[in-house]
Amino acid sequence: MRRITIPHCLLAGLLFFSGTPLPAQTAAPVFDLEASRQQSIYHSRGETRPEGYVIDRGLAAYVFALMPGFESAVGSLGPDDRWLDIGAGRGQAMIDYHAPAKNDGTSPAAPRRKAGTVALSIEDRRTEAWHRAAAGAEPERMRYLFDRPLRNFTAAELGAPFQLISDVIGGFSYTDNLTRFMEKVLEILAINGSFYTLHQDVMSEAGDNKPHYAGAGFLTRIVDAGDKDISICAWLRQISCVEVSCQAKSGWVPPIQTYRVRKTCNETAVPRLERIQYTSGTPPERVFRFVAP
Ligand SMILES: C[S@@+](CC[C@H](N)C(=O)[O-])C[C@H]1O[C@@H](n2cnc3c(N)ncnc32)[C@H](O)[C@@H]1O
Repeated sequence: MRRITIPHCLLAGLLFFSGTPLPAQTAAPVFDLEASRQQSIYHSRGETRPEGYVIDRGLAAYVFALMPGFESAVGSLGPDDRWLDIGAGRGQAMIDYHAPAKNDGTSPAAPRRKAGTVALSIEDRRTEAWHRAAAGAEPERMRYLFDRPLRNFTAAELGAPFQLISDVIGGFSYTDNLTRFMEKVLEILAINGSFYTLHQDVMSEAGDNKPHYAGAGFLTRIVDAGDKDISICAWLRQISCVEVSCQAKSGWVPPIQTYRVRKTCNETAVPRLERIQYTSGTPPERVFRFVAP
């Protein structure tokens, strides 16, 4: 997993890290330009797709990236359950999930029926492999939705509620509106269902790590009214009706922080963040300000 550093993006990181006061909010034209650059990244193909825009991680890579517990959460899904992958790229994790189990010839066990899955992406990255796998799965078990970010789908279009939602460097790392993103995740998550995700190169819960790139800031930051950094984990913990676990995971460059958010009741409320910087990239650099209720 790599982060692309492009000159304007590095410059922004340096400015924001070197003690310069943060702006109240990105000026609209600046944001519009960055949003349009981000769209170009989403829709890039072939040679023009940046090296850092990885779209083909399979299920094993998801297990390696996400918090322990994700693998058994996938393994315990039954045929009446539903799993949504936000920011699925080619949907390789779901192709792997639906692949028929290899029969070692020692038991005649019937194949296990799988959960209904939905792979979500802004751009359509389906390949021949996806179409073959979907044709081999039970009807409607392997859906792929695209064309819009998560927040622009209704719960009914997505087929909510979901017992499991995953996001590996998808919408959670790319959205320009983290509050709305989490509100939507919690709207479509079943009670007792879990959202597994991660961020790379961000402040840990203990606040004892440094940005990966010397001289740059963290890739996603949340600051309070006095511009002091607070961890993503601390913000997640302020959401009501959820149980949050946060854990650093080794073996990744830049290092990653993993999160599991379990929904415990329906009255969820997500503390509001204002976007104050968004610089396109893979993923984008973002700074949000925590708005006290
Ligand atoms: C870097 S790719 C990651 C693909 C896959 N998870 C993997 O690890 O190979 C980012 C994916 O997130 C999607 N994405 C970004 N923002 C999103 C959002 N707000 N809602 C839904 N998908 C989003 C992109 O369209 C793309 O499919």
